[in-house]
Amino acid sequence: MKYPVGGQRGHIIVFANEKGGVGKSTSAFHTCIALCNAGESVAALDVDLRQLTLHHALWARQESEREFGVKLPGPEQILLAQQNENELEEKLRMARIHHDFIIIDVGGHDSPIARKAIFMADTIITPVNDSFIDLDMLGRIDPRTGELRTLGNFARLVEHLKEPGMAIRPKALDWVVMQNRSRNFATKNERKVLDALEKIAPVAGFRIVPGLRERVTYRELFPMGLTLFDLEAIPELGKPQHNAREEIWAMLRALNLPSAALNKAIAPAEAS
Ligand SMILES: Nc1ncnc2c1ncn2[C@@H]1O[C@H](COP(=O)(O)OP(=O)(O)OP(=O)(O)O)[C@@H](O)[C@H]1O
Ligand SMILES: [Mg+2]
Repeated sequence: MKYPVGGQRGHIIVFANEKGGVGKSTSAFHTCIALCNAGESVAALDVDLRQLTLHHALWARQESEREFGVKLPGPEQILLAQQNENELEEKLRMARIHHDFIIIDVGGHDSPIARKAIFMADTIITPVNDSFIDLDMLGRIDPRTGELRTLGNFARLVEHLKEPGMAIRPKALDWVVMQNRSRNFATKNERKVLDALEKIAPVAGFRIVPGLRERVTYRELFPMGLTLFDLEAIPELGKPQHNAREEIWAMLRALNLPSAALNKAIAPAEAS
């Protein structure tokens, strides 16, 4: 089956990893709101149809706006009524015309609709935590030699997507593996996991970027649909945390997204 993509305006960013609980929804939400803060026109779409975590966070954001009497930047939420691949393709085609970016959260399991989203991506972001179990879907590393034994199922899926003729896309697909929940001081295990990722990367065809650090704030604000950017508008919830905001900008910079507004939004004080 071919997946034509076309050359429209909207850049599709898909957060996907067949491993569950690695931070797909958390990273998708923060990327989405940061792009909105940068002044981009953004659409959000959840194809994790059982959990709808991204949509729930965005609905909670609307409730928070009413509760605190503020107007916060946010995306257009796109819902799937029929929940099938044709509908997804049609809605993405329209969203590409009207928006600069489309953020898609894909559940932690394989499904036809998940595949369709992945096959239409311009950027695939695969969050991983510092655990070898999280790497299985990317590649299996020999624990004794540290060498790559075989690619994992998710890496094979993306490899398939890169085969000639599978997708007609205006630009090359960028596959990014994002280290989520890292700590301030890299542990021995974190370094080992990074070594393993560096072994898999050239074979699987992804690059590795830093993601969000382990922070309680991300867990605390998420149920209210809020991010650190919103604390200036709602000071009663806490002081703005400049380090953490810089971490989000750094994550976005590493994605090399086609966004002039994003580059402008990274104020000199916040840029490293
Ligand atoms: N950077 C972070 N700091 C602290 N907690 C985090 C961070 N990223 C994710 N978490 C927490 O880890 C858990 C899993 O995150 P999340 O739901 O985003 O993962 P997921 O990959 O979308 O999971 P699923 O496969 O179930 O969709 C959640 O409890 C979330 O609050
Ligand atoms: Mg999720």
